[in-house]
Amino acid sequence: MIKIVTVIGARPQIIKAAALSRTIGDAFSAKIKEIIVHTGQHYDANMSQVFFEEMNIPPPEINLQVGSGSHGAQTAKMITGLEDLLLKEKPDFLVLYGDTNSTLAGAIAASKIHIPIAHIEAGLRSFNKKMPEEINRIMCDHASTLLFAPTATGFNNLLNEGFRANNHAPYTADNPGVFHCGDVMYDNSLYFQEIANNRSSILRDLELQPETFFLATVHRNNNTDQPERLTALFRAFDTITHQTKQKLVLPLHPRTRKLLAKNLLGKLYQKIVHNPLIIITPPVSFFDMIVLESKCEMVFTDSGGVQKEAYFFKKPVVVMRSETEWKEIIDAGCGVVADANETKIMDAFLHFQKVKQSLAYPTIFGDGHAARFILQTMVNQ
Ligand code: UD1
Ligand code: UDP
Repeated sequence: MIKIVTVIGARPQIIKAAALSRTIGDAFSAKIKEIIVHTGQHYDANMSQVFFEEMNIPPPEINLQVGSGSHGAQTAKMITGLEDLLLKEKPDFLVLYGDTNSTLAGAIAASKIHIPIAHIEAGLRSFNKKMPEEINRIMCDHASTLLFAPTATGFNNLLNEGFRANNHAPYTADNPGVFHCGDVMYDNSLYFQEIANNRSSILRDLELQPETFFLATVHRNNNTDQPERLTALFRAFDTITHQTKQKLVLPLHPRTRKLLAKNLLGKLYQKIVHNPLIIITPPVSFFDMIVLESKCEMVFTDSGGVQKEAYFFKKPVVVMRSETEWKEIIDAGCGVVADANETKIMDAFLHFQKVKQSLAYPTIFGDGHAARFILQTMVNQ
């Protein structure tokens, strides 16, 4: 029996953790004991609790309750709490997801006391070190013992940084194992799609007809914090809804909600709140979200996870960032990187309106069994 400690903190990490916990319950309960630690980075019920309930994730044994703060203050509190816990639990692996401050804190805490790290979503790069996430994931990858890349691009990025594909077990931080294994988020989307369709009432609640509305999310710090960028995104949303007479649903991240009135320039804030076709809601549950993604016409987002889920559900995605880690989606022609540029967003929108029926969505994210591969690799080690 091996012991793993899983660190979660931000919404997408809670969602990703569901795939591993479910697979441990289904197939590894005699081999793996999992302890879940919540850093408390996200704390609103609709950013955290809802996912535990809906996706049946075991409750965290500990919540460090760090809350919000500057990068340094937030990460420092997490490191202190995680170090105490790891010294006490002495797990065989610390499991870290993605690229948030919770990921970085786990990487620093565990590597200094020689606890092997398994990094899920390893190798993703935007090649933009102004993103806090880019720093977090590079640091985490280079402190890890097992690196699980969801895509070929992620795997190749690791090889380009000097990781070797032909290392052999036993793996260590100095002899790390790198694996291309598919994406646990794809596992989740396959597993939950039908359940979500049966349980979610979001289409009824928001009076939406399938395929006749758009879905958008905005939370990336450089979009929310820069008025010109936020304004460009919302001007595009306003124009698209007026031109098409279709609704655009925007489940709004708390970060964006807090900045909307302040950072939308001119009279745009008033225009947006009085536009009956722009439906701004609080963050929705995962089931509601995947129903919205699978039933919409097109997705506009700066989220990493939402880009991928759009692809899983065969919806074109307009990426409102200057680059993406999910290069394969762009190469397949199913996504366009439009930055926070109103003209580029409108061009991408018009393009997808024309070609959306003819898009193909080749397999990029594995076979839906990434979690099983990851767990088996830890057990074999
Ligand atoms: C974080 C991650 C980002 C990830 C996103 C997922 C970092 C550096 N960033 O960004 O990579 O894409 O989570 O959603 O780790 N807030 C609330 N309630 C909450 C949580 C946050 O009101 O439950 C507000 C607070 O004002 C907070 C702000 O949102 O200051 C930002 O939260 P934070 O966790 O620092 O970063 P995110 O933007 O959520
Ligand atoms: N998500 C959700 N409700 C929402 C918005 C997003 O359940 O209102 C889910 C979405 O389906 C995906 C994940 O949150 O699984 C993406 O997280 P987010 O966009 O916060 O972060 P990122 O992926 O960019 O790090």
